[in-house]
Amino acid sequence: MEKRKTVYLDNAATTQISSEVYRDMIDAYGKLYGNNSSLYSLGREADYALEQAREKVAKAIGANPNEIYFTSGGTEADNWAIKGIARANRHKGNHIITSAIEHPAILESCKALEKEGFRVTYVPVDEFGVVKYAEIIKAMGPDTILISIMTANNEVGTIEPIRAIAELARANDVIFHTDAVQAIGAVDINVKEMKIDAMSISGHKLYGPKGTGALYVRKGVKIDKLLDGGSQERGMRSGTVNVPAFVGFGKAIEKATENIEENNKYLRSVRRYFLKTLSERVHNIALNGHPTQRLAGNASVSFEGAEGEAILMLLDKEGISVSTGSACAAGNLEPSHVLLAMGKTEEAQNTIRFSFGLNNTKEDVDYVVAKLQKVVKKLRSISAIRIYKNKVEL
Ligand SMILES: Cc1ncc(COP(=O)(O)O)c(C=O)c1O
Repeated sequence: MEKRKTVYLDNAATTQISSEVYRDMIDAYGKLYGNNSSLYSLGREADYALEQAREKVAKAIGANPNEIYFTSGGTEADNWAIKGIARANRHKGNHIITSAIEHPAILESCKALEKEGFRVTYVPVDEFGVVKYAEIIKAMGPDTILISIMTANNEVGTIEPIRAIAELARANDVIFHTDAVQAIGAVDINVKEMKIDAMSISGHKLYGPKGTGALYVRKGVKIDKLLDGGSQERGMRSGTVNVPAFVGFGKAIEKATENIEENNKYLRSVRRYFLKTLSERVHNIALNGHPTQRLAGNASVSFEGAEGEAILMLLDKEGISVSTGSACAAGNLEPSHVLLAMGKTEEAQNTIRFSFGLNNTKEDVDYVVAKLQKVVKKLRSISAIRIYKNKVEL
């Protein structure tokens, strides 16, 4: 009998902490317990380590260290960027442009601002999930103060043309923010060169610790402070800092951004192998997202006639972790807002996101494809939807 394996294919949700990062953090938790705001040696040592970590984050994205604010992750950075920038620049206008496929941390922040009287345009995307540049131009007006478009989408892996959008924003004196939580470590980003004014990143997507992230804010961009208190993070986000966690974040981002090419090459080869073997053994599947402008580790696949949640549950029984596009909130299974925005109504219910990480192997792929073949066949046999086509759409 074949042995049950554990295969983790949800690296876009979070990653396993790398052994090097883990080692550095354990060391820091043991030694760097001083409050980094204190003046005695133990405090100064912790502060030195924190500033080293800040330098690593800054270097990884081409920023200055004094433009980096540590946060608890991508969600906090997104909330802070959207609300903090909008409120601080309200005297200039009350219009914000974002896309229909942003992460809920952006979309919900925009909704909160709408209640405060801001006007938000949610720009549509094409069938590949690419934000429509022409619609951004159309939406822009004299009251536009902020454009926020993600660097890469978390569900379908499409990389957005943020260089062009940032150029457009800069030329019109509009602040440009990007949620680069999925992209950092996968796409080469230099905030200065790319004219990015603010950017959100997160540690746990790149083999770093959960509960860490950062917001880059270009010097000169007005943003309200996030938390009042003892003036940590240069007065912008008060609270005693979790220094060892940010030491881990610094290490993780340094490693990830130094090896982008090599890591992507590996991820592309695993993903290509997955899609090849899958398409040979499971018919009537379709790949979502852009065919080339995409994250190397993401494969969002729709299985005609098989429900996404059911596939997920049956794969879980086999030790395989994947995710669906939909968010399960308060017991309601909502179809993916990203796939719906791409015009994929049926697919919004029957899609699985496989996100590969550096720990995955071709052996993992063989195991997953064998199980998928069985699971999809079973679900299709009990589905009300009949498969007539026998065409593989990849
Ligand atoms: C694009 C994007 N933005 C924001 C977030 C939120 O990041 P965090 O989990 O660090 O709060 C995620 C995480 O899923 C994401 O994929």
